[in-house]
Amino acid sequence: MALTSTHYVLPSNESERERLFLQHHHVLKPLFGTALVQPNIYLKPGDKILDCGTGSGVWLLDLAESIPPTVLAYGIDIQPRLFPKEPPHNVQLSVNSVTSLPLEWDNTFVLVHQRLLMAGLRKGEWISALKEMYRVLAPGGWVQLCECDSWAAGPAVERERSLMKALFDSEGLLLDCCQVIPSMLRSAGFTNVHIVEKHLTLFGEEGAYDRSNSVDVFRAMKTPIMAQGGLGHVVSDEEFDHLVDAVGREMETTRGSVKRYTVFYAQKPLASM
Ligand SMILES: C[S@@+](CC[C@H](N)C(=O)[O-])C[C@H]1O[C@@H](n2cnc3c(N)ncnc32)[C@H](O)[C@@H]1O
Repeated sequence: MALTSTHYVLPSNESERERLFLQHHHVLKPLFGTALVQPNIYLKPGDKILDCGTGSGVWLLDLAESIPPTVLAYGIDIQPRLFPKEPPHNVQLSVNSVTSLPLEWDNTFVLVHQRLLMAGLRKGEWISALKEMYRVLAPGGWVQLCECDSWAAGPAVERERSLMKALFDSEGLLLDCCQVIPSMLRSAGFTNVHIVEKHLTLFGEEGAYDRSNSVDVFRAMKTPIMAQGGLGHVVSDEEFDHLVDAVGREMETTRGSVKRYTVFYAQKPLASM
C-alpha cells in the first residue's frame, strides 16, 4: 500500500519506469564516469546500504551487481508501483517515507543514497529527511545525494523554468534545492561535505538522451500544472503542448544549451555515538 503524498508532481507509471531506466543508464551513470558511489565510499561484506526514493530501483539494482553479495541493499519509496517484481536476494524493498524511516534502523547503514527527490520534498521535509538519513547512518557512514536545479537554452526554456518554478512554489517544493542542500547537510550534523557538479549538453546529437529526458519530465508535469489552470503561464492544454515542443526544439538547436547535475556527499562523524 502506497503512502500518500499530496505534492509529489511526477507520475508513477510504465512511461516513468522507462524514463528512469534511460536517465540512469544513458545520462547519469555515464555523466559521473560510471561511478555509482563516490570514490571515498567503500563497501565491504556485511555492510548495509539504503536507497531513499528508489522508484524502480534502477540505481540500487545496478549497484547490487557490482558489490559483494553479502552487502544488504535496502530501498524505500512511498509508492511501490515501480518496484521490480523479483529483486535479487540481497535487495529488500519497502514502503516508507524518507521523512520517517523505521525506528529500528538507528546507526545501521554505511551508505544512504538519494537521487532526484526535488519534485517530492518540501523545505521542512528536506530537513526531516536529512535528519532521518543521519540517524540511520552508522557513525563514519556517508550520505550521497544527486539533484538537478539548473538548465538553460533560450526564451522557451526560460518560460518552462518560470512555469516549473510556479508549480514548485505552489506545492512548497524547492526548485533551487542544490543551493540549500550543503547548509542543510551541515545543520543535520554532517561533516566532510563534498559537492561535485557536472554539466551536460542538451544540444544536437550528443544531447539527445538528456534532452528527451528533460522534455519528458516537463511533459509529465502537465497534469498538476493544468489542474491549477496553467498557473498564469499557459491557458490551455494546446498552449502547454506547444511550449513542450518549443522547449525540445530550442534545446536541440541552441549551441550551449546545458543542464547541471550535482552530487553531494557527506559523512556522519565517527564520534557521533
Ligand atoms: C524522480 S523519482 C527518482 C527515482 C530514483 N531515485 C532514480 O533516480 O531513478 C522520485 C521518487 O521519489 C519517491 N518519493 C517522493 N517522495 C518521497 C518520500 N517522502 N519518501 C520516499 N520516496 C519518495 C517517488 O515516489 C519516486 O519514486
